Amino acid sequence: MHPMLNIAVKAARRAGNLIHRAADNIDHLTVAKKSHADYVSEVDQAAERLIVQTLLDAYPTHAILAEEGGAQGQSEYVWIIDPLDGTTNFLHGIPQYAVSIALQHNGVLTQAVVYDPTKNDLFTATRGRGAYLNDKRIRVSKRKEIEDSLIGTGFPYTRFENMDAYMDIFKDVMQKTAGLRRPGAASLDLAWTAAGRYDGFFETGLKPWDIAGGALLISESGGIVSDLAGNQNFLTSGHICAGNPFVHEHLLKIIAPHLTDGLK
Ligand code: IPD
Ligand code: CA
Ligand code: CA
Repeated sequence: MHPMLNIAVKAARRAGNLIHRAADNIDHLTVAKKSHADYVSEVDQAAERLIVQTLLDAYPTHAILAEEGGAQGQSEYVWIIDPLDGTTNFLHGIPQYAVSIALQHNGVLTQAVVYDPTKNDLFTATRGRGAYLNDKRIRVSKRKEIEDSLIGTGFPYTRFENMDAYMDIFKDVMQKTAGLRRPGAASLDLAWTAAGRYDGFFETGLKPWDIAGGALLISESGGIVSDLAGNQNFLTSGHICAGNPFVHEHLLKIIAPHLTDGLK
């Protein structure tokens, strides 16, 4: 394993263990509301501190971009961290959440970990070396027909600017595929797509820490990841479409007619 991935795995496991222990005690946690329907708990913050500490102990000169603490430091190496992706699920006792850690080197994603502590599923990838679930190599699904495909998505819940376009896309995708799922943790949705569980995934309004780890998992498992128009700026726009090459292309075609007014 690449030494930088090894440190990221150590950080993700430490945070995952902390989250897993805290899951027994959700009724007693301190929770704050960042904005409408956007929550942060003391567990998100403690997990993030543990991750940042583990990474900076190993690489003190590296920079950090983390959900709760924001940007820290200046370096060609930037760690992009979501300490607890799926906070709403976590706070409701729904076992679908993950720790996501990715490394960007000179703007290119090079290492990724998405760790699901309730299932002990560790998804990892190093650029050019493939993607893994625990010790097993993973690949995107081979399904070609869109009508047989299972698609993951995320519903808008804090920002509603793109709601109309989203609902139109949603209706169309529902009618043209075998089904849609909204499990509630974007990093895991992408990891599951990389592992061939979903054939494709799309969502709008995400942040870099929701997507960075999952995006590298997708490309290293033979999938395609882009924004909703097929361009590569998904990390900054937060609009993302991913899947096996066939389903990704089908999804872009379904989505295209609904983007005439653009997305914010
Ligand atoms: C959220 C989850 C969710 C997605 C949201 C994200 P958080 O992350 O990934 O699936 O739909 O847009 O913000 O807030 O639980 O870390
Ligand atoms: Ca998140
Ligand atoms: Ca989070």
